[in-house]
Amino acid sequence: MKKIILVALLFACCIVGNAQQNTLNLMPVPKEYRLIPGKFRLTKNLIFGIGPTSAHHATNPILFEAVSRFCQQLSRKTGLVFTPQNLEPGTKLDSSASMSILTPSFGYPDAGVGEDESYGLGIESHVIGITASNIDGALHSLQTLLQLLAKDDDGYYFPCISIRDSPRFKWRGLMLDVARHFISYDEMKRNIDAMAAVKMNVLHWHLTDDEGFRVESKVFPLLHQKGSNGDYYTQTQLKEIVKYAADRGIVIVPEFDMPGHAQSWFAGYPELASQPGPYHPGQRMQWQKEHPEVKTPPVTSIADIIANMVAPTFDPTNENVYDFLDKFIGEMSSIFPSGYMHIGADENNGQAWKLNPKIMDWMTQHQMQNTDDLQRYFVLRVYGLMKKHHRKMIGWEEIYNDKLPADAVVHKWIPSDNSMIKSYGIANDIAKHNPVLISEGFYLDLFLPAYIHYNNASIAAADNPNILGGEAAQWTELVDNENVDGRIWPRAAAVAERLWSPASVTDADDMYRRLNVLSNELDEQGLNHLTNYERALRRLTNGEPTEHLQVLTDVLGQVKGYRKLVAMMMKAPQASYQTTPLTSVSDVILPDPATKRKFRALVKLYLEKKDKNAEDAIKAYLQAWKQNDAYLQPLFTGNKRLMEIQDHSKNLSASAAIGLDALDRIDKGAVDAAWIKQQSDVLSAFEKAHYEVELVVIPEIEELVIGHTIPEPEKYSAF
Ligand code: ACM
Repeated sequence: MKKIILVALLFACCIVGNAQQNTLNLMPVPKEYRLIPGKFRLTKNLIFGIGPTSAHHATNPILFEAVSRFCQQLSRKTGLVFTPQNLEPGTKLDSSASMSILTPSFGYPDAGVGEDESYGLGIESHVIGITASNIDGALHSLQTLLQLLAKDDDGYYFPCISIRDSPRFKWRGLMLDVARHFISYDEMKRNIDAMAAVKMNVLHWHLTDDEGFRVESKVFPLLHQKGSNGDYYTQTQLKEIVKYAADRGIVIVPEFDMPGHAQSWFAGYPELASQPGPYHPGQRMQWQKEHPEVKTPPVTSIADIIANMVAPTFDPTNENVYDFLDKFIGEMSSIFPSGYMHIGADENNGQAWKLNPKIMDWMTQHQMQNTDDLQRYFVLRVYGLMKKHHRKMIGWEEIYNDKLPADAVVHKWIPSDNSMIKSYGIANDIAKHNPVLISEGFYLDLFLPAYIHYNNASIAAADNPNILGGEAAQWTELVDNENVDGRIWPRAAAVAERLWSPASVTDADDMYRRLNVLSNELDEQGLNHLTNYERALRRLTNGEPTEHLQVLTDVLGQVKGYRKLVAMMMKAPQASYQTTPLTSVSDVILPDPATKRKFRALVKLYLEKKDKNAEDAIKAYLQAWKQNDAYLQPLFTGNKRLMEIQDHSKNLSASAAIGLDALDRIDKGAVDAAWIKQQSDVLSAFEKAHYEVELVVIPEIEELVIGHTIPEPEKYSAF
């Protein structure tokens, strides 16, 4: 009987808009759902039934393990003990099961991308039913269920609901660079868990770059021995992480960057390069070394550096290079079962080739006009090796040209309207020829607020089925094992939603409301973005209480774009981004801080609806900020790292006083144009960055002064 009710429930599902979503915390928002009156109360008597729809199928250990993890999470949250008997493999779907999962096809999650990931979830007051065509959908459904958990005076419950869900895009990735700074084995697992929580399905692992070769090679051991500082993943670890991800429905796509971004390959094997060695892994762009006379070059000179520097690059005219890559790709294919391999191929300016007469002669003999032709040749040769090892080749958009084979995947990253670096076209146009992945607009290392990624115009315009999806991208020049979680999360969840939920889900205010809930949840589940932030603050105060410091740092953000990175690149090699400890305030604060978002929502509520509770909450913030500088003063004494935010501390207090004055004047009807002008000028001066850090609540205080809301910028410049 229960089963019949359940099936009826699932099929009664219909589309519901954002009005109902406002009462839920689901992220990403499901495709279709309908809330139904009633609650499924959680008791320790939750009985699971996990079964195939057909007797011909075998039971699946992955799903049992996933349900086991789900139970542990549910137990920790509710304090209820669910007995292991409920989870015995082979448990039949009998009438005693209060939660059942039915999936017809019981296999290991596919190592590819593009499986049917859909699922249905129905909750009635005494029964929960999940159906999925595949293991991936079943795994997703458990994440949805966890996010539905709610509490009232009578305890924990799931709201009654009917959901039918499936992703908008089949490729929902996170690109993580582990070359610039190594990200540890445990940290990788934590990020995989977080990805699974928001239904991301591809981890694109940028494993090699100039600064480090992060995989153990048994065939060419000098790759990791000389190409890294000792920080690399052993093959055992790589295989374990691949399995860990697969158990959570996530495919790992490795990237081995070539022909440029390749210095670390040449530390052990200099004969593969276009210029003689010796080579050492490290930062390739060293302005100070090349131009010691120029102390502070203009930021725009970064484009000149990219265009003109001689960067370590493979020699495409050397047949031994292809023999080497053949063996290496073969070895890596045995570790990474995914059907895809990424070859990078970005940012090769051809200068290393131009300076080698042998290469130039070879190009002439082969009727090549320029180094772009040689890059094409190299990419095609590597494409052939990928085919040999049954891998689909992916490359950054620099691989794109009219001779590129139609099944090579082009990974778009350069903003189409960029004036500094040439873009290879818009995603829709490239997709007429090749499958496309979009990371344009999803670069998390630009310190942009989540709403910018959420509104990514490139994805909004994606109307070609050849656009597979996209990836949030986290480069790690300014990121290490400690701050990596805070740089990726929770903002990556906004990208995950953009790639999963229907295009019609666009309410950024509601996204932020749910992102805040999710952020706390992810940290509670084991991610360290909030925990490590607090730990870093303790380090900054040398063990003194951090309460008042955090009042300030909760409303600080990094300067947006590449300005912080460029500042680091201009430093001498001994102060490079790889050797400088990432422990300054700008390193440890969270981009797009939650307090700013909460304050912004309150100011909007107050200004647009004259909400009294919002006004009280705004006053509480402003009063705390106004007093805070006095509390912080003793901490600044003799503390060089904290002194960097001394001006911001004063300015926060001064701007809070202005905000309180504004509220008072609004109440008394005593706002006048001269006062607005004077206060706005003062506030504008407070927007100035110090040590790559900005005070982020000035726009909202400005809104209080002028008495109305101002839309946030639609974009920010990268430089
Ligand atoms: C890239 O950011 N160079 C792909």
